[in-house]
Amino acid sequence: MKPVRKAIFPVGGRGTRFLPATKAVPKEMLPVVDRPLLQYAVEEAIAAGIEQMIFVTARGKAALEEYFDVAAELVAELKAKGKTAELAVLESTQLEPGRVAYVRQQEPAGLGHAVWCARLITGDEPFAVLLPDDLVYGPSCLKQMVDAYNRVGGNVIAVEQVARERTGSYGIVTPGATDGNLTEVLGLVEKPKPDVAPSTLAVIGRYILQPEVMTILAEGKRGAGNEIQLTDAMAQLIGKQPFHGLAFEGTRFDCGDKAGHIMANIALALDRDDVGPAVRAYIAGLGIAPAGN
Ligand code: UTP
Repeated sequence: MKPVRKAIFPVGGRGTRFLPATKAVPKEMLPVVDRPLLQYAVEEAIAAGIEQMIFVTARGKAALEEYFDVAAELVAELKAKGKTAELAVLESTQLEPGRVAYVRQQEPAGLGHAVWCARLITGDEPFAVLLPDDLVYGPSCLKQMVDAYNRVGGNVIAVEQVARERTGSYGIVTPGATDGNLTEVLGLVEKPKPDVAPSTLAVIGRYILQPEVMTILAEGKRGAGNEIQLTDAMAQLIGKQPFHGLAFEGTRFDCGDKAGHIMANIALALDRDDVGPAVRAYIAGLGIAPAGN
């Protein structure tokens, strides 16, 4: 079984739900507390042993490349001022030379198209896909998936239960046999209406896929929203290769959505030593009853 060494970060989307902020700032650069969304996904991938990060970017996303580069002037300035703590923070944003590759998605033709844009870099190896707007707080979700992949091989996607009225926002699984936290995937459908959804088990933005999916994506078939859908291509692998959904440990925040982004900020801020006490005191002062009361 080939190891998972490469990860694709599709960051070519327009982020229209976050306008006007995304008019000038890529969605993936919006901070949760003090770090851009993208940084959380990259740290998760590094914790999973990923060697190469492939960003599929688009026009207007130049800030992403700047972010992972060395900011020489800023480093010199901080050194001159003796700001060692700030220097250490900067170091976490610098990746070794050659560890990052950038590919352009020339038109926003959908997530499947964005993944296909990285095919020449992933070649004949299995690869991971991480959507940075899904922030998974807890132990590295991708690491849990890589561990599962090393046991069962094939394709592994992260799944979680959602409310039935929300199925139209997700790829939904037709579940087969479950063994511990792994469920066999018998079918996949993109954004089904609640009354026709095969289950309430939803795919989140974390995938380990076999290279054959690129051949299917190359056909360029359009699906929901007239976009080339990753879900549709993955569905064609079912029955031909092992395909499992992993119920991961951790909390997912949909940071592509305004409410989800605010919730992530609150949850992560409350967990921090520096800002946690002030945020907790503020929330207590609002006099909101705890959930369930
Ligand atoms: P979304 O469905 O959240 O779309 O994409 P979006 O365009 O980014 O945001 P809204 O809906 O307009 O607010 C899910 C993921 O797929 C990537 C996005 O960057 C995001 O990580 N994506 C989507 C692409 O890379 N290219 C595309 O053509 C579409």
